[in-house]
Amino acid sequence: MKTYLVTGGAGFIGSNFVLYMLDKYFDVKIVNLDSLTYAGNLENLKSLEKNPHHIFVKGDIGDAELVSDLFKKYSFDYVVNFAAESHVDRSIKEPELFAKTNVMGTVNLLNCTKNAWYTEENGWAKGVKYLQVSTDEVYGSLGDTGFFMEDTPLDPHSPYSASKAGADFMVKAYGDTFQMPINITRCSNNYGPYQFPEKLVPLLINNCLNHKDLPIYGDGLNVRDWLFVADHCKAIDMVLRQGVLGEVYNVGGHNERTNLQIIKKVISYINENVDEEVTEKLMTYVEDRKGHDKRYGIAPDKIKADLGWYPETTFEVGIEKTIKWYLDNKEWMANVTTGDYQKYITKMYK
Ligand code: NAD
Ligand code: DAU
Repeated sequence: MKTYLVTGGAGFIGSNFVLYMLDKYFDVKIVNLDSLTYAGNLENLKSLEKNPHHIFVKGDIGDAELVSDLFKKYSFDYVVNFAAESHVDRSIKEPELFAKTNVMGTVNLLNCTKNAWYTEENGWAKGVKYLQVSTDEVYGSLGDTGFFMEDTPLDPHSPYSASKAGADFMVKAYGDTFQMPINITRCSNNYGPYQFPEKLVPLLINNCLNHKDLPIYGDGLNVRDWLFVADHCKAIDMVLRQGVLGEVYNVGGHNERTNLQIIKKVISYINENVDEEVTEKLMTYVEDRKGHDKRYGIAPDKIKADLGWYPETTFEVGIEKTIKWYLDNKEWMANVTTGDYQKYITKMYK
């Protein structure tokens, strides 16, 4: 039995990862530490309510006493750090919170992990690993050509990406200075079930269903590289099990799309399958995001060649699956957007 400390496991990717792991393996126990910010939602984990392999703990990755107690109570083999403030627009309004959670929270987690796994006499515990879930945004922005490689210099622009880069450097420093067993993954834009509807794809679906404007930042020609969330979960699992210690792995599926292409795809699916009144008239050009990165494009060659990872879901299949999921889970969307789910979780976990 391998025991995992997964942080941020009630958020979008974290909850998909917890569900993925517990579906795939019977010999896995997951302690899920999440402070349940607006982005954390225990409804995502409802199917695990009676699963003894999942233990939910409400708490902050920056709380040294709590994290150290968890290490004493459970003998973790792996730490996977998803916990973060993750939305670029919010980071422009509230940079301090991003530095606190993403940088200082990560440093606390690294420190508690080192204290638990390392002794002067015996060195590092055997077979353990800390994995930092990072993002392609730390590399900055691309022109019309080229891709982010693992050795592309970090050049973050937003407070969000700067805080993630800061965290990456601290993880690297623990690896270099203390020989801590670490990996860092840097993934491109994820889409799929359970994503909070402030991010482009679920926001578009939600607004289409409510006949609200679809905000297009700038000219709509910024490019993102989209990956179905289950393929990211698979990559993290592979890096944990097979990744060479100290290495960074880029994760992405060469699925670049302009924002306009994404918007038109969502409109046309909903128009054809749900509601003929949803048209391109809903598209509304709004003020551009400050410091808006033009293009992301990730080169996943290393994880493919060294670990045998490949994305299983094409964009065409993944985006339709995703839209269908939100259509089938309108209550989830309503609860998340109205705040009613807060009452629900307080009731469920008080
Ligand atoms: P999310 O915002 O949906 O989830 C973040 C989770 O972290 C939430 O459940 C939240 O409650 C929790 N959290 C926040 N602060 C915390 C704290 N101090 N202590 C404990 N828990 C805390 O984010 P996401 O999109 O699922 O992203 C997860 C991770 O993956 C992040 O580190 C993000 O940088 C990274 N990432 C995201 C994407 C993407 O496209 N969404 C792509 C690449 C990497
Ligand atoms: O690349 C990985 C990153 O992808 C992750 O590290 C971040 O956590 C995640 O939020 C995501 O960042 P983006 O800023 O790329 O995602 P977002 O969904 O906010 O925006 C995608 C693109 O769509 C971006 O170019 C801005 C644009 N956009 C976004 C919103 C919310 C709009 O045009 N209109 C909108 O209303």
